[in-house]
Amino acid sequence: MKKRIGILTSGGDCPGLNATIRGVAKALYQRMGNNVEIIGIANGYSGLINGDYRVMQPYEFSGILTVGGTILGTKRTPFKLMRVIGDDEVDKVSAMKKNYKEMKLDCLLCLGGNGTHKTANLLSEEGLHVIGLPKTIDNDIYGTDVTFGFHTAVDIATESIDRVHTTAGSHSRCMVVELMGNKAGWLTLYAGIAGGADIILIPELPYNIENVCAAITKRAEQGKNFSILAVAEGVYDVEEAKMKKKERAAKRAEQGITTATHRIAHQIEEMTGFETRFCVPGHMQRGGSPSPYDRVLATQFGTYAAKLVEEEIYGVTVAMNNNQVVANRLEDIAGKSRLVPEDHGMIHVARRMGLCLG
Ligand code: F6P
Repeated sequence: MKKRIGILTSGGDCPGLNATIRGVAKALYQRMGNNVEIIGIANGYSGLINGDYRVMQPYEFSGILTVGGTILGTKRTPFKLMRVIGDDEVDKVSAMKKNYKEMKLDCLLCLGGNGTHKTANLLSEEGLHVIGLPKTIDNDIYGTDVTFGFHTAVDIATESIDRVHTTAGSHSRCMVVELMGNKAGWLTLYAGIAGGADIILIPELPYNIENVCAAITKRAEQGKNFSILAVAEGVYDVEEAKMKKKERAAKRAEQGITTATHRIAHQIEEMTGFETRFCVPGHMQRGGSPSPYDRVLATQFGTYAAKLVEEEIYGVTVAMNNNQVVANRLEDIAGKSRLVPEDHGMIHVARRMGLCLG
């Protein structure tokens, strides 16, 4: 009996999506030959809801290992709206189940981050055969030591920090580099250490601007004419940490603050007298070709997912635990995220190096 496998990519794109799709497809064809057909679903869950899909041919999975983004297209379809019927009057969950049936799928592979996994779990609870694959530059999926996309983003973010060093040194400035990560500081922590940042601020550790300025002044006293800050986009200070999310947003709006990084740069200038600039690499961190590390990881994850398909192990997501590729139950990981613990080894490394963490 021929198996029909659906595949979709959902949420923000990242390097390694195509490499994973390729890993899945090549391993499926290798293991099952003509007994497998792959159905590409366009733009994530949106394509599953709207019935936007097509049967893919083996040649479509060639030449994509090094290609960034996703050949399937992606979209953010928020989990919290999945059971909400909007103006279009579409019952999204029923539509996804109907299209799964219409496509005659034996299994659906969902490549994505935390939101994607919540919906994957919902579909699994609704009786569909689902397998997840963990992507995100944020590296914050519960139950896996690493997600594909993360290391490429660390490479790009590190290069951004490397490149501002020259201006910082030449102009005797503070340079604040805003890196992606709203809730999780992994990318900033790793790139900050790799790029030799002097101050690293992450959402998990609310900062005190006095400590940041003291670190800059101390460096100046030691004869260092510049400081580099790696700051996650989602940071907040100790005062904001006491507030609810909405209250924090309202206060920032009232004060005309666009981002915390913007504010930090101004505060440094005012409080230390150091000329300060900030820069935001933004979506460059998610763009382009995956690094060799991510190509390998994506291939490991993709081929493992193919094995799960063949063995008919569903309701799981692929993960890396202590260098072993494993399958975690979707219900065990959905709705949780993996943030940087205060006592994480890399936090200790940063402290031992005398870096300021705010
Ligand atoms: O989840 C990945 C991520 O890149 C976050 O780090 C960032 O906050 C967010 O996506 C940006 O999303 P968008 O591309 O939708 O602006």
